[in-house]
Amino acid sequence: MQLTDEEIRMRDGADGAAVAAAMDLLIRYGEALGAERLVDTRNVAGTMTQPSPAKAQLVREGGWAKAYAVINLDCDDDIEIPRMKVPTCQLQHGFSDDAEGLTAYSPQSIELQTDAENYYSERGVNILATCTPYQVGNLPVRGEHVAWMESSAVVYANSVLGARTNCEGGASTGAAGLTGKIPYWGNHITENRYATHLLQADARIDTFQEWGMFGYFVGEHVQEARPAIVGSFAQPDLADLKHFGAATATSGGVEIFHIPGITPEAPTLEAAFGGGAIPEPIRYGEAERRWVYDTLNAQGESDEVDFILLGCPHASLDQVALVAHLLEGKRLKEGTELWVMTPRALRTMADRNGYTRAITRAGGKVLTDSCPAMSRAAPPGTKVFATDSAKQAHYLPAILGIEAWFGTLEECVDAAITGRWRGALA
Ligand code: F3S
Repeated sequence: MQLTDEEIRMRDGADGAAVAAAMDLLIRYGEALGAERLVDTRNVAGTMTQPSPAKAQLVREGGWAKAYAVINLDCDDDIEIPRMKVPTCQLQHGFSDDAEGLTAYSPQSIELQTDAENYYSERGVNILATCTPYQVGNLPVRGEHVAWMESSAVVYANSVLGARTNCEGGASTGAAGLTGKIPYWGNHITENRYATHLLQADARIDTFQEWGMFGYFVGEHVQEARPAIVGSFAQPDLADLKHFGAATATSGGVEIFHIPGITPEAPTLEAAFGGGAIPEPIRYGEAERRWVYDTLNAQGESDEVDFILLGCPHASLDQVALVAHLLEGKRLKEGTELWVMTPRALRTMADRNGYTRAITRAGGKVLTDSCPAMSRAAPPGTKVFATDSAKQAHYLPAILGIEAWFGTLEECVDAAITGRWRGALA
């Protein structure tokens, strides 16, 4: 790999042992990927604070520096961790104390995470604590090279924002924060960003649910390739595109998509394909739409629902406001739980707007930091859950062994009030 003089000095220890370890990791990682060089980044979104038994053990042995060295730098030496060199944020992690007592999630994990937040904040890590950093101030610009983790955030950054990132991991982001470097390969390179597949929506895509279902279909068909989508859809908003992207990265491994006329790197269909040949479209009509709906509802049997989960990816303020509005003057059915997951910063706004109060008064909860899939925890005794998220409907039955219903936000709120699933494909 070609290194600049600055990178050679960092590798050789001019900026301290932790930076040298980080450079060593990035060089090994880049060479394994066939990258010819590193690229500068000033935007890293990773995970340092997520609690785990292995991390707890490392902290007992040598404090947070030891945990960072081993887990985020792949280094066994006793080293000090300096302040991050470039802006770095913590993505979603485990539940925080707002979920204490609501699940079987361990108080020790919450304590460990709080301790980690203090340690990493002092080193310049912004604790955004969300899978949607782009909703709370981390908004890279088009063409910016960033180093992000979390599949739903990565596909949003590449596709909707036009930033450039691969789906990084805890180690590469740990090293990127300390160096401001990441291997230049994959989605960082223009030629690797052009569309490879064309998907045509014949069925109308005009709601949050429809965007999620279409995304699930797209991911299933293209897997890790790069789709361009055309057809019958209304102008999407932020929530639609975060649902669409998350769904493509759930049934498949999509990291970038293009919507001609809407996403920044596709002013035209021709531009989406980089001027290359445009393939025959894969079509999404009523039969395909029905297939997606039935697939996402395949784990639902009993119509008696005891848990409703909204906010995956973490809810926008508008989504929280809509839940609050639908619950105005209503009360959750006894024995039914409703959780709305949102970033901490948006919960503060929801508090100030009275949305949290309206949801809480009805018996629901507005929670932050994590989600049931991430923390592998739901209200005790949950047997049947309902959600408006294709991603959560896909993962949670397998993670927690519970039944799942997938529908609209309105159908989910109805289930919270009645305790019954009455959803149907419109
Ligand atoms: Fe976020 Fe959890 Fe969904 S981390 S994308 S709310 S699975």
